[in-house]
Amino acid sequence: MAWPGLDAAILVHSAPQYRAPLTFLCKHLRAQAFASVRCTIMAPPSPHRSPAQANGACSEDGIRVVDMAVLVNGDADQRAQAIRHLGRACQEWGIFMVINHGVPEALQAATMDACKELLLSLPTEDKAEYMDGSPMDPVRVGTGFVNSAVDGARYWRDYVKMFVHPDFHCPSKPANLREVAKEYAACTRGLMLELVAAISESLGLDGGRIAQALNLESCLQTLVANHYPPYSGPDDDDGSTPIGLPAHSDYGLLTLLFQNGVDGLQVQHDGQWLLAKPLPGSFFVIAGDQLEIVSNGRYKAALHRAWIGGERRMSVLALIAPCLDTVVEPVPELAREGPEGVEFRGIRFRDYMESHQSSRLVGKTALDIVRVQR
Ligand code: OGA
Ligand code: NI
Repeated sequence: MAWPGLDAAILVHSAPQYRAPLTFLCKHLRAQAFASVRCTIMAPPSPHRSPAQANGACSEDGIRVVDMAVLVNGDADQRAQAIRHLGRACQEWGIFMVINHGVPEALQAATMDACKELLLSLPTEDKAEYMDGSPMDPVRVGTGFVNSAVDGARYWRDYVKMFVHPDFHCPSKPANLREVAKEYAACTRGLMLELVAAISESLGLDGGRIAQALNLESCLQTLVANHYPPYSGPDDDDGSTPIGLPAHSDYGLLTLLFQNGVDGLQVQHDGQWLLAKPLPGSFFVIAGDQLEIVSNGRYKAALHRAWIGGERRMSVLALIAPCLDTVVEPVPELAREGPEGVEFRGIRFRDYMESHQSSRLVGKTALDIVRVQR
C-alpha cells in the first residue's frame, strides 16, 4: 500500500543503537508504505528549548518531563541533572513523560492505524484463533481486563497483545502490521533500554547493572493496543458505570504509552487520582512491578487505570520486562543493612507474569506474592 504525498521525517539520535533500526526504517518505509518518504536525517535536537520543555520541567499537573536529548547528548552536568530528575520522577510518581525520544511520529501513527484496523475493521474470523488462548499465548485478542469471562462486561476495552521480543509474534492480518510492529518494537526497545540505563545510574548503580540483573538482551517485550469505545451513559459512582481498565500496576519493568489525542489515563499520586495529560509528541513512561522489585522498593510501580468518556480512545503500549527465565530479586547493592534488608523475595519472571495475568487483580496485589512479610 502506498500513501501518496505522505512525508516522514526521520530523526536520528547520535546514540548508536538508534542508527541501525532507523536507517533500516527509512529504506523500508520508502519501499513499503510511503510513496514520497523524505528521509531527513536531522541533527540531534538542541538541548536549548522553551522553559516549559527545559530539562527538569514538570507538566501542569506535576508529572515530570525527561528530555532524551539531554540524557543522550548533554554535557556531564546536564546529564547528571537529568538523571537526578529522572530518579525523582521514579521515586515520587512512577510515571513521567519523555520528549525528544526519536521515535518517528509516522511510525507511531502507522502502528496505531494497523492495530485499529485489526481491532475495529477485521472480521472476527480473521482473529478468532487469537481469542480463546491463555494469558501467556504470544498473540492475544480480547475484551475486558485479562479474562473477559470474569470481567468483560464491566470493562470497556478491546485489546491486541503480542510478544515481539526475543521472538517476534504478530497476527497475520492486517497485512502491514508485521512490518510496522517490527519497526516499532525495535525503535521503542532501543529507547526503553536507554531509559533503563539512566534509571540504573539514578539508583547509584552502574548504567548496565539493571540490564544485566534482568538479562535484558533477551528481554520480553510486548506490544499492546487498547481500544476504548465511546461511552455516554450515566456517570454513577456506584460501580455500575463501566470503565476502561481498573486500577493496576503493569507486570513489566517499563511501559511506554501514547494515545490518539483523547485523554483517559489516570494515575494515582499521593492518594489522589489525576488525569495524565501528555505534552504533544511525548510518551508516558510507567514504572512496572519489576522496577519496584529490582530496586528493592526504592522506586514504586505506578498505580493507574483507564477512564472512558464520550470519545473513542486508543492507546498503544510497548512494555519491556525481564527475560522470562530470569529470577528477579532486589539487586544486593540496594538491600539495606540487617535481616530486614530486602523487601521482595526472588521469583522467576515467567511465574510472576502468569500469576499477574491470570488472576483478577485489585490494585497492586500481584506484588504481594513476592513481598517479604514482616
Ligand atoms: C494497560 C494500561 C492504559 C491506557 O494496558 O496496562 O494501563 O491508557 N492502559 O490505555
Ligand atoms: Ni497498565
